[in-house]
Amino acid sequence: MGFPGTGKIWMNGKLVEWKDAMIHIASHLIHYGSAVFEGARCYETPRGSACFRLDAHMRRLQQSAKVYRMDYSLDLAGWQAAVLETIRANAMKSCYIRPIVYRGYETLGVNPMTCPVDAAILLWEWGTYLGKDALEVGCDAKVSSWARMAPNTLPAMAKSSANYANSGLIKMEALADGYSEGIALDVFGNVSEGSGQNIFIVRDGVLITPPLASSILGGITRDSIMTLAKDLSFPVQESVVPREALYIADEVFFVGTAAEVTPVRSIDKITIGAGRRGPVTEALQRAFFDVINGEAPDTHGWLTYVYEEEAHLRNQQRTAVGAGS
Ligand SMILES: Cc1ncc(COP(=O)(O)O)c(C=O)c1O
Repeated sequence: MGFPGTGKIWMNGKLVEWKDAMIHIASHLIHYGSAVFEGARCYETPRGSACFRLDAHMRRLQQSAKVYRMDYSLDLAGWQAAVLETIRANAMKSCYIRPIVYRGYETLGVNPMTCPVDAAILLWEWGTYLGKDALEVGCDAKVSSWARMAPNTLPAMAKSSANYANSGLIKMEALADGYSEGIALDVFGNVSEGSGQNIFIVRDGVLITPPLASSILGGITRDSIMTLAKDLSFPVQESVVPREALYIADEVFFVGTAAEVTPVRSIDKITIGAGRRGPVTEALQRAFFDVINGEAPDTHGWLTYVYEEEAHLRNQQRTAVGAGS
């Protein structure tokens, strides 16, 4: 689905109309992939719209920029304020949030340092990534013939646009072969992650996910799921996952801002567990959705309310109704 093409985009501190949010074709990032970005979500909750782990996302943006020697004139609080300002300016209730820091227009050559560091924040509505059904029935994945970047080539922990050339190859191959998602191995042949999401397996009640050293992006959903798993007393291990562990797992699921928590029901046409969402996946999915939808107490302080005044007013109204009844 294309963009509606309306609304406001934050560009270097100014809110501009969607149609006017242009950069020059000679901008460095277009030729050399010199950009780092984030993907976060804002959800509608009973207390008003809330961003999920906005601080963690903006911190990762700063860290990705640091790896690529990009200095931008916003601190962590400034980044969060800019995102909230953009959501408010667009009066969005729920949205996907895409901040990007990039090397802009000045000269063209491999050295990015001669080009300015610019930034933008755009928002759009984005539903379930692998399809609404997939959240319940699971998706079909294949192990990609493309490996994830080798260590010390492109830094997987930095969410750089350049890494998504690799993700694009994994995703296109999976779709062309009739699957909805690809699972990449690292260059040592161990499981790394999906094209745009991290992966967990469940074996004998234990949750296992590949470590950072398996060329993964340190996902914020991955971290949230590890925390929720501990809350629910599921043992969690970060350890190297051999490819065959996927096929003999009791359950496999993807996690990410876009994919949220999506069960995987088959890999390379081998049925995983019972071939449907398993009980551990379901318990974690429920715990995750309850937090993001504001239906469970936010015990980890993961939600940032966008329209605080609105939330405050609603609370007052609720208290007044409660007092009158
Ligand atoms: C390659 C890759 N791995 C993992 C993730 C999951 O990260 P997060 O949970 O922070 O969205 C993403 C999503 O951005 C991704 O693109």
